[in-house]
Amino acid sequence: MKTPLVGIVIGSQTDWEVMRHAARQLKDFGVPFEARALSAHRTPGLLMEWIDGLVAAGVKCFIAGAGGAAHLAGVVAAHTTLPVLAVPMPSKHLQGLDSLLSMVQMPTGIPVATFAIGDAGAANAGLFAVAMLALEDKKLAHALQAFRKAQADAVKAIKLPDL
Ligand code: RP5
Repeated sequence: MKTPLVGIVIGSQTDWEVMRHAARQLKDFGVPFEARALSAHRTPGLLMEWIDGLVAAGVKCFIAGAGGAAHLAGVVAAHTTLPVLAVPMPSKHLQGLDSLLSMVQMPTGIPVATFAIGDAGAANAGLFAVAMLALEDKKLAHALQAFRKAQADAVKAIKLPDL
C-alpha cells in the first residue's frame, strides 16, 4: 500500500455518502489517501492519534467533513499546520447551513478552506487537494489539465435544440 498523501476524515458514517465524492476524485487521479470516520467530540483522543500518525507518514493535507456544529475541520487544523479542507455536510434540520457557517467562520489564526455544502463541495475538495499536490507533481498537473479540457470540450459540444 502506498503512503497516503491525503487524510479524509468524517464525523460519522452517515457523512460517507457525501464524502465519497472527494475519495472518488482522489482515486480517479491515482492519489493515495486514507479515509476514517472519527469524531471531534465522540473520539477526540483517537482523532489526534490518527492525525499524528498520518503526519508522521508524510500526508500533505486533510479533508474533513462534518455536519451540524461542525467543529471537526477546526479541531484537525488546531492539531496540524498542514492545509485542512472543510466540507459542510447537509444536516437534518438546517440543510447544512449550520455546518457551512461553523466551518467558514473559523477565528483568525487557524484557517480551514471551506467548500460548498454536500456532493459538489466534497468533489471540489478532492480536486483542490489534487491541485495542491500537482504543484510538485508534473504528471498530476497534466492529468488535471486533461480533466479541465474534457469539461471544456463537453460544454463546446452542446447543441441547443431549435425553437
Ligand atoms: C456530526 O453530526 C457528523 O459529522 C454528522 O454529520 C452529524 C450527525 O451524525 P450522526 O448522528 O448521524 O452520527 O458529528
